[in-house]
Amino acid sequence: MQKNSMWQLFPDGRALNRRATLSFIFAAMMLCSYSFAESSADTYKAKCSACHGKRGDADTMIGKNLKLRPLHSPEVQNQSDEQIFNVISRGKDRMPAFDKKLSKEQIHELVRYVRTLTK
Ligand code: HEC
Repeated sequence: MQKNSMWQLFPDGRALNRRATLSFIFAAMMLCSYSFAESSADTYKAKCSACHGKRGDADTMIGKNLKLRPLHSPEVQNQSDEQIFNVISRGKDRMPAFDKKLSKEQIHELVRYVRTLTK
């Protein structure tokens, strides 16, 4: 029986009702907004922690090899937001530039994140 074919999704003729369809669309939208709202903490973990360590302590193999300063040290925290922004966007020594991989807004958020790594 072909009835209401637009909604008919299953071979046995069952169709998704409107409510199920709307819930599905709602769930998909929630998923999308969640992935767009990736926080600076997630970005840091994905892009920076391999070298700088989870809390910026440089306690990773790479961090030790590169002799990185902990991000909470005065030498780093005394730099201006602009200096830190520039290091992240242009890179420094063995650190790659991130201006092609991250948006300006994301880099600003990372500067703010680096400021939270004091302890
Ligand atoms: C491949 C390893 C690597 C990755 C990945 C990396 N960095 Fe770096 N980072 C370095 C190196 C090397 C330096 C230069 C240290 C120096 O000046 O001796 C540095 C310097 C810095 C500085 C200045 C620190 C200082 O001592 O003056 C900041 C801030 C910084 N990185 C933040 C970040 C952020 C935020 C990310 C992620 C977007 C990141 N880094 C990713 C290796 C890395």
